[in-house]
Amino acid sequence: MSAIKSIYTCQNCGAQSPKWIGKCPSCNEWNTYVEEIVEKKQATGKTAARLAGNQPMTLDKIETLQNKRIPTEIAEFNRVLGGGIVPGSLILLGGDPGIGKSTLALQLALAMKDRKILYTSGEESLQQIKLRAERINTTSENCYFLSETSLENIVAQTEEIQPELLVIDSVQTISTELIESSPGSVSQVRECTSAILKMAKKTGTAVILIGHITKDGSLAGPKVLEHMVDVVLQFEGDTNYLYRILRSNKNRFGSTSELGIFEMDSDGLHEILNPSEHLITKVSDHVSGTAIAGAIEGIRPFLIEIQALVSSAVYGTPQRSTTGFDLRRLNMLLAVLEKRAGFKLVQKDVFLNIAGGLRISDPATDLAVICSILSSNLDVAVNHKYCFAGEVGLTGEIRAVSRVEQRIAEAEKLGFTRIYIPAHNKSFDQKKFRIEIIKAARVEEVFRSIFKQ
Ligand code: TYD
Ligand code: MG
Repeated sequence: MSAIKSIYTCQNCGAQSPKWIGKCPSCNEWNTYVEEIVEKKQATGKTAARLAGNQPMTLDKIETLQNKRIPTEIAEFNRVLGGGIVPGSLILLGGDPGIGKSTLALQLALAMKDRKILYTSGEESLQQIKLRAERINTTSENCYFLSETSLENIVAQTEEIQPELLVIDSVQTISTELIESSPGSVSQVRECTSAILKMAKKTGTAVILIGHITKDGSLAGPKVLEHMVDVVLQFEGDTNYLYRILRSNKNRFGSTSELGIFEMDSDGLHEILNPSEHLITKVSDHVSGTAIAGAIEGIRPFLIEIQALVSSAVYGTPQRSTTGFDLRRLNMLLAVLEKRAGFKLVQKDVFLNIAGGLRISDPATDLAVICSILSSNLDVAVNHKYCFAGEVGLTGEIRAVSRVEQRIAEAEKLGFTRIYIPAHNKSFDQKKFRIEIIKAARVEEVFRSIFKQ
């Protein structure tokens, strides 16, 4: 007798229960349990030890993957992956709808002209894919397209064509016949991914799985999906801005701190190899409320413009709002300004914006943030040839930042005349820089220097 049973699965975190529950005990979300029919295969005989399967090996017998990576034609993508696509690996590419996941995958597939690639889409028809390909104006003779939602067919076609890279757009639209629940449900996603994983490891085909993102920003589907795949990439950016950022949240073959920056244009995505030049608005006259931060994301330094607006609060409770910067960190910096530098910002609204729609997590931007706030508050412009790098501590001290030389070099390259850095940064050869380097231990010193008070 085949054991058909139904199980209730949380669509948010993938927890399962034999009964329906209103609130998920594992992720505390409400109303996320959906009934799914699970057909368990009959256990096939005894699970006797089989020595014929994979054999254990010592390290020196295992071939190294390094020189086998497949470099893509998109340098920013290679950078984020740590050098190229590892054969047989599973890459999950997540992002909000409309951010450009399909465009990126298609551009990637079409640019690798001498490699066989299978691009399957469950979301678009072949005609729609062709339209998009015409828009980005590239073509490749080795790229095959398939509009398909059945996992079994995708696997069969992959085994037939034997591509080096398989793109599946998206994991939420494909389904396997083995499970009755609808595409996109937790059990379908999990089952399909595990089948694709097995296929990838068997055939050595690398797979890019495109995944949707839920409204709270996590990848739709269970966390287990992220555990299964080798690399989790996130494609993000505000749809209103042109910039798109590719980050890796997990990478079994490289660093996760790398960042790729693209610009969405009318003819597809373009790589931005020198982000600083794009991220700084070239203003000729001095305006108050902006300061330039020397930030580092991944191994790449770039300069970004921080914009602040401080105005008197209209209502009792002042507003604090940020785009691209952590709000709690802003509140902390405002408290430091208030307490340590004596600036009264309690009755002021403070708005902070990182130009270009970027989201920055480098703490070295702190110093530029507080300088831009003060500049707006005093309505005195910061010299637009000055740049700042420093983390601000709770006592108002400027704490050392990592790789300060790279930041200085980037500022110098872009024609800045002065950079403020932490006094406690370990010493380095200052003579090799032409830019004026000012070391400061406390935020007050910086204020005095830039606002000449
Ligand atoms: P798409 O790749 O379909 O997003 P996703 O697969 O992540 O949902 O990208 C859709 C957006 O990109 C759409 O709003 C149109 C825009 N776009 C361009 O601006 N230029 C282009 O050349 C292409 C192909 C798309
Ligand atoms: Mg898409």
